[in-house]
Amino acid sequence: MRDSLEAAANAAKFVADRLGRKPEVALILGSGLGEFAETLSDANVLNTKDVPHYPPSTVPGHAGRLVAGVLRGNDRQSGSLLVFQGRTHFYESGRLDDVLFPARLALALGVTTLFVTNAAGGISRSLRPGDLMLIRDTINLTFLRVPVPPDARRTGPPDICHPHLRQAITESAAREKIPLKEGVYCWVKGPSYETAAEIDMLATIGGDAVGMSTVPELLLAAHSGVRTAGISLISNFATGRGGGILSHEEVTQTASRVTATFVRLLTSTLLSLTSRPA
Ligand code: HPA
Repeated sequence: MRDSLEAAANAAKFVADRLGRKPEVALILGSGLGEFAETLSDANVLNTKDVPHYPPSTVPGHAGRLVAGVLRGNDRQSGSLLVFQGRTHFYESGRLDDVLFPARLALALGVTTLFVTNAAGGISRSLRPGDLMLIRDTINLTFLRVPVPPDARRTGPPDICHPHLRQAITESAAREKIPLKEGVYCWVKGPSYETAAEIDMLATIGGDAVGMSTVPELLLAAHSGVRTAGISLISNFATGRGGGILSHEEVTQTASRVTATFVRLLTSTLLSLTSRPA
């Protein structure tokens, strides 16, 4: 754990030297959602393979780039943003330290806010592929222990959906006329998708959506005092909820269909949260 923190601190120094500005908000983007980074102005791009200690990503649709920049809109510009395009999933290396690397790097760079997005299977009967769901709370079905900072041990769980961010996201969705659902995200290890019986179980314990990411980053950052929020793009009906046999292609296809709406929601939210006159 100490080694992982040192690795993230080294990487942060490298990134800070290259990017030349201190990010205020970090965004970790999931399968097929990396396009948001293309909308940044004054962008500086780093390949994650050039960043010391950065774990390799092996999943198609996860580009492996860090993009720093700002959003511009109507004479205003956002605070400085750092986008992680591509993440490592637990099933890739079996190391939670790899999964947490982007969040640790963002913390070491001093961000105050972290957004995490993912593609997820819809469990709730009220969710359909293409829906966006604000993550109200999470269930950790991996039973992996997320290593939170020492002073956050044995304290109650932080609010992973920060009230201020929740308000900014829901108001932006309303302004942009983007329907936004809200629900509980279940984190599973993968890499294969669930059985129909497992999905029934997740519904019984209160899950609305299921996926293989996001929860450790949100927990670590929230326990570290950073404001956090997560949004799931519902890419498919979870097994047994409708649709045929699931595939990663279906997940990325739905993500690319909804990407423009997702980008609009993130842009509007970030401008309303952090913008100042350009
Ligand atoms: N299950 C688990 N992870 C996922 C799913 C799913 O149905 N869809 C996208 N990621």
